[in-house]
Amino acid sequence: MITLLKLMVDRNRAEKQRNARTYPRMQNPDAVSSLTVLPLVDFYSAIPDAKTEAGVSYLVKAGDFTLLMDVGHNEKREHPSPLIRNMELLGVRLADVSALFISHFHFDHLGGKKNERKKTFSLSNGAVDFPPIPVYAPLPIRHSPFNMNPGSEVRVSLDPVRIAPGVYSIGSIPRALYLMGYTEEQALAVNVAGKGIVLIIGCGHQTIQRVIERARQLFDIPIYGIIGGLHFPVHGGRIMVGPINGQSLVGSDRMPWNGINENDVREAIGAISDAGVKLVSLSAHDSSDWALNEFKHAFGDAYVDLLVGAPIKV
Ligand SMILES: [Fe+2]
Repeated sequence: MITLLKLMVDRNRAEKQRNARTYPRMQNPDAVSSLTVLPLVDFYSAIPDAKTEAGVSYLVKAGDFTLLMDVGHNEKREHPSPLIRNMELLGVRLADVSALFISHFHFDHLGGKKNERKKTFSLSNGAVDFPPIPVYAPLPIRHSPFNMNPGSEVRVSLDPVRIAPGVYSIGSIPRALYLMGYTEEQALAVNVAGKGIVLIIGCGHQTIQRVIERARQLFDIPIYGIIGGLHFPVHGGRIMVGPINGQSLVGSDRMPWNGINENDVREAIGAISDAGVKLVSLSAHDSSDWALNEFKHAFGDAYVDLLVGAPIKV
């Protein structure tokens, strides 16, 4: 009863916030000539030696600008973490990263549950030499003592903001989630010359429909690609607590007996198709194999597997 009440309160709050946030078009949005998204942490890998987990970290190379999106889960609290190990394996240097982008404050994107509780993030469970680069987060976030990045500045991107040439946060879109509560989540938009806007999404708690709507509000440019998590743990999930599908339980703004279902997946596929998207790549960290297969069948040649170590080139 209390959880139901809380969900209703959070739903109200999220709806009010969403309605209050309307934004003008980005003026003269610039573009990059190329974009590569390299998954560093996710559930499936293209490389046998890479570490995999139900978490997200992507290296986004937009023109000359390199950004790290989210820092993985580090479920076993390791040092070096799966993120740091995979970076070494793939020859990625933290010194080459110019900004960190945190999509939202859930453990699988912040480097662990402790970080979620403390509203902080860490790249590993021990000292990591991390350059003093700006950190874009939808809400204020603290630095973990492990990050060793003195001088790094937190920039709250609740509202849309240009991060670098052709690279934008579309701003945060809140949603109420059962048990997880009111959740702010932002997504990245990269404008690729001659192609269009590529949206890179952490968990997709906003719903893809609202992400597309926001991108259309900000840019008079077609949406070319959708890459990342959309949270469809239908007929299976990546975080099982005994027989209970943890991701399904907490992933919706409805009560669990009316949780995420096949119809939600079909509606998302419909919305992406209607937007004329040319490249789709769905993260397996918060979607089931069933959902991945639905996407593969729906998008055919436009679908690209999202795998650790396999760069998605736009
Ligand atoms: Fe996630």
